[in-house]
Amino acid sequence: MSDRPPFFVIAVDGPAASGKGTIATGLGKAFSLPVLDTGLLYRCVGVLMQKAGEDLDDHEAAACAAALLTADQLNDPALRTRAAGEAASRVAVHPRVRDALMEFQRTFARQEGGAVLDGRDIGTVIAPDAPAKLFVTASPEVRAHRRWSQLKAQGERVSQEDVLADIRRRDERDGGRDTAPMKPAPDAVLLDTSEMTIDHAADAARRIVEAARATWLSAN
Ligand code: CDP
Repeated sequence: MSDRPPFFVIAVDGPAASGKGTIATGLGKAFSLPVLDTGLLYRCVGVLMQKAGEDLDDHEAAACAAALLTADQLNDPALRTRAAGEAASRVAVHPRVRDALMEFQRTFARQEGGAVLDGRDIGTVIAPDAPAKLFVTASPEVRAHRRWSQLKAQGERVSQEDVLADIRRRDERDGGRDTAPMKPAPDAVLLDTSEMTIDHAADAARRIVEAARATWLSAN
């Protein structure tokens, strides 16, 4: 009888607009696994606080908002805006917010069969034992162009320079915070998508995960 856990977890981490969301969705389809965009949790906490007129730096209020969050709140299109990304990054520095959101993410990861989770700390904190880990990057300029195109398609008017400034500020905050900073897990495979089309990147990710899955199956 095998000791292999009955779930195959794929951790996809990386900075804003690196392509990790599209890659995670593609991996979910390729391996028939459910996908959780964990950024939505932090976006939701930020948006709920802003709607309630609360200060995003107030860690008590942020922890309360995180504790009250429910899965049905994650479909709100307001979570996809530029402002929501910035608010998410500010509430994500609070350790109690991260704690409050941890169990939800771990439960999702441990479901029968497994799951794909994308975020900043999946391979390091949420699922450090995940048998497949990717850290997806791209240059800030390429990421800014991608995010600007997305925001434009959503009807947001913003310059590419301002999006690049957002991205640089977010990289610094996400990578510099004390709790669960964004960084590749030591056993993550780095995937730089700067020079890749999204189809090419999704293909490369699938091949990396196929190799990790073969190793995982043979080791158990
Ligand atoms: O889509 P994008 O990469 O711009 O952002 P996101 O994945 O929706 O995450 C928004 C913000 O939430 C990030 O800038 C992080 O500050 C935070 N976040 C985090 O700290 N940990 C995660 N696992 C996911 C997101």
